[in-house]
Amino acid sequence: MSQFSPLSSLPPDALLGLMTAYREDARAEKYDLGVGVYKDDNGHTPVLTAVSKAEARMLEVQTTKVYEGPRGNVDFCAAIEDFVFGAGAAARTEGRTLSFTAPGGCGALSLGVGLMRRIGVKKVWVSNPTWPNHPKVVQSAGLGTADYRYADPVTGTADRAAMIEDLSKAERGDGVIVQGPCHNPTGIDLTIEDWRALGAFTKERGLVVMLDVAYHGFAHGLDADIAGVRAFLDAAGEAMISYSCSKNFGLYRERAGCFLALGETPEGIAAASTHVADISRATWSMPPAHGAGIVATILGDAALRAEWEAELTSMRERMISLRRALSGELVQRTGSNLLASLTTQNGMFSQLPVAPEGAKQLRETSGLYMPGSGRINIAGLNMKDIPRVAEIIATVI
Ligand code: LMR
Repeated sequence: MSQFSPLSSLPPDALLGLMTAYREDARAEKYDLGVGVYKDDNGHTPVLTAVSKAEARMLEVQTTKVYEGPRGNVDFCAAIEDFVFGAGAAARTEGRTLSFTAPGGCGALSLGVGLMRRIGVKKVWVSNPTWPNHPKVVQSAGLGTADYRYADPVTGTADRAAMIEDLSKAERGDGVIVQGPCHNPTGIDLTIEDWRALGAFTKERGLVVMLDVAYHGFAHGLDADIAGVRAFLDAAGEAMISYSCSKNFGLYRERAGCFLALGETPEGIAAASTHVADISRATWSMPPAHGAGIVATILGDAALRAEWEAELTSMRERMISLRRALSGELVQRTGSNLLASLTTQNGMFSQLPVAPEGAKQLRETSGLYMPGSGRINIAGLNMKDIPRVAEIIATVI
């Protein structure tokens, strides 16, 4: 008998399975609205020019591959602290923040969930719907999950009252994951007022919150997109943050992420840092250097930074125009006003009122790939295909 016989096979990860199926689909007419990667007009996910230049520069000056240390690239950590807390934030000089390089946003999430576990969190609340990997990360750390309502299906906007009503059932000491700008899968974001109210609420209820910031700069711009996170932090006084550079720097496979926290006391943050270092040591031992090095090089150089910001702006503006065009076509074809709300949503994703069987039908009959949740990756579209894509989608709405 094999030592592996106690294992039975798991179903494939839905999104990764979709990626493979799309690649293997031999049809000439096919559309990939599945995995969340940005594509240009030629359907290509480019390396940003600021990234290529930073890599060339790194190669020139690099003399060693020796470990960087438990926090990874400290310039990277400082740059992400600038983004999240602000360059002049008092909490930083007071020793009430921490930051660690992590293997992607998901690595940062794992550090946060690991820290929650050590704090004594037993259950973590995630939005319904959410990125399917959120409950997976929580459950694989041995914690339970529960969900809170997030958006109003009729208006296509965030529903703070429902969110707070559900989170009122959380016990003191429960964990909560809240997504920053460009909610995955709905594209529906909280207002600044919602963020502030949520921060005050979670503080009063003693909830342990992690904010997941994976699309900074994809909604309205770098400053505007972080304003809600800052309003939350002001009101809550404490939180963890996972930050991903996969999308805004186009660094997907390089796994460039950062785990951060803000605490009420420097003593609390000093102790938390030792735990984060310990969890990181026990999992990947030392964080990866290349992606974080690219980001630090770009953000540490005025010209490269300006070039990256211009590329980020052009990705954002392109997604906004694609959204508008798709929304217009879908409203016209289906007469559904709900689809007009696509233009008020942000980032790469929106969720269409398409049932899992509808998504399957689109894939089988028309070569249009989207997960069963009805989520579409707007950034996978291109202008010339929109009328045809809308025509196909309208058949199941
Ligand atoms: C997505 O949601 O499509 C991306 O974040 C990719 C992933 O790993 O799921």
